[in-house]
Amino acid sequence: MNILILGSGGREHALAWAVLQNPKCDKLIVAPGNGGIGQIAECAALDPEDAGAVVDFCAEEAIDFVIIGPEAPLAAGVADALRDAGILTFGPSKAAAALEASKAFTKEICDACDAPTAAYARFTEAGSAKDYIRQQGAPIVVKADGLAAGKGVIVAMDEAEAIAAIDDMFGGSFGGAGAEVVIEEFLEGEEASFFVLSDGKTVLPIGTAQDHKRVGDGDTGPNTGGMGAYSPAPVMTDAITMKTMKEIIEPSMAEMARRGTPFQGVLFAGLMIKDGQPKLIEYNVRFGDPECQCLMLRLGAQALDLLLAASEGRLDEMQVTWADDHAMTVVMAADGYPGSYEKGSIIKGLDDLPETSYEMCFHAGTKREAGVVTAVGGRVLALTARGESLQEARDKAYALVGRVDWPEGFNRTDIGRRALPD
Ligand code: AMP
Ligand code: GLY
Repeated sequence: MNILILGSGGREHALAWAVLQNPKCDKLIVAPGNGGIGQIAECAALDPEDAGAVVDFCAEEAIDFVIIGPEAPLAAGVADALRDAGILTFGPSKAAAALEASKAFTKEICDACDAPTAAYARFTEAGSAKDYIRQQGAPIVVKADGLAAGKGVIVAMDEAEAIAAIDDMFGGSFGGAGAEVVIEEFLEGEEASFFVLSDGKTVLPIGTAQDHKRVGDGDTGPNTGGMGAYSPAPVMTDAITMKTMKEIIEPSMAEMARRGTPFQGVLFAGLMIKDGQPKLIEYNVRFGDPECQCLMLRLGAQALDLLLAASEGRLDEMQVTWADDHAMTVVMAADGYPGSYEKGSIIKGLDDLPETSYEMCFHAGTKREAGVVTAVGGRVLALTARGESLQEARDKAYALVGRVDWPEGFNRTDIGRRALPD
């Protein structure tokens, strides 16, 4: 089978790596890919958000199956265009991708199916939003309704910060994404990421993880796309997983089907857990990055079988085979990230790193030319390892980090800190 993966991050490198382990894959193309992906698959200069170009490319290259990595092509309807053209596709329709593309829509679904989530109100105008903030008091959370590349959420510890966020959003800082704002109750507890596959009828859990969103050690500094992750998340006990499925995931998926917009793809629920009760923070309609790097190392070749089954409506036939193992990924980012950073610094030491099903260096923002790897993004590498214990996975992941020779890069030194003894 000829397979196309859309995207260019560490998530897509990990997906490509897992897909290639499976003998069903005859040929793999990743568009646009990156410097690491180019070492294991063909990369194509194709805009993943240009539905017409993607459909034409699939015809030219005789592609049998498309896996869509990031949210932007999903929100742009690329999965719909591919399915209309008769191409088997992993990823939700534009209508179902609204679970990530509109925070207000997700709240509507939670209301309709009684899924526990933070109390909220929606605003399209600054004056009433500010009145509401003054009424509720801080801490409070202000969110741009639309896609804002992970930057549209302000967790405000005082009223002034929340009011400033309102001015920012209605002032156009987030473009169209900030035309509507959702203001939410601040939830306390422990966060976890929960991943399920859905084929529109059957829902299958495929793993849990914990991300580290803040840039600095000890969860300090600004939010990022994620500086590291580990899987499984100890807070997701069997009882909490079951509660999450029954109270949040299954009712949400049933509501989407009831509306005539069934969800097919991977649903990534961001949860807050307190006193044994999970509440939904947000849905994403794609794998998390860097959570995906952990999940793929743990799932290996069966990932392709699972994604195919989700796309073909056969999830009821599938089960996930788990080793009793742990994975951790540590992100190396360019100095300055998530603020402005330089591009073009040279990264050495990568060719000597092990590439096994226990230790992988997934590339995110890299370019490779004449054998030289340069950093071209904010998050640049995701050093990922698996072990029998979280401690073993952590030791191996940080050993990989230690072998990368990149003076212009940095990483958090405390990934997994909440799950490991001091
Ligand atoms: P999101 O982009 O929705 O994942 O939000 C980014 C981060 O903001 C989340 O991972 C949480 O840490 C935090 N967050 C979002 N909503 C809330 C909330 N209602 N209460 C507390 N923290 C939140
Ligand atoms: N790591 C968080 C995300 O992918 O949204």
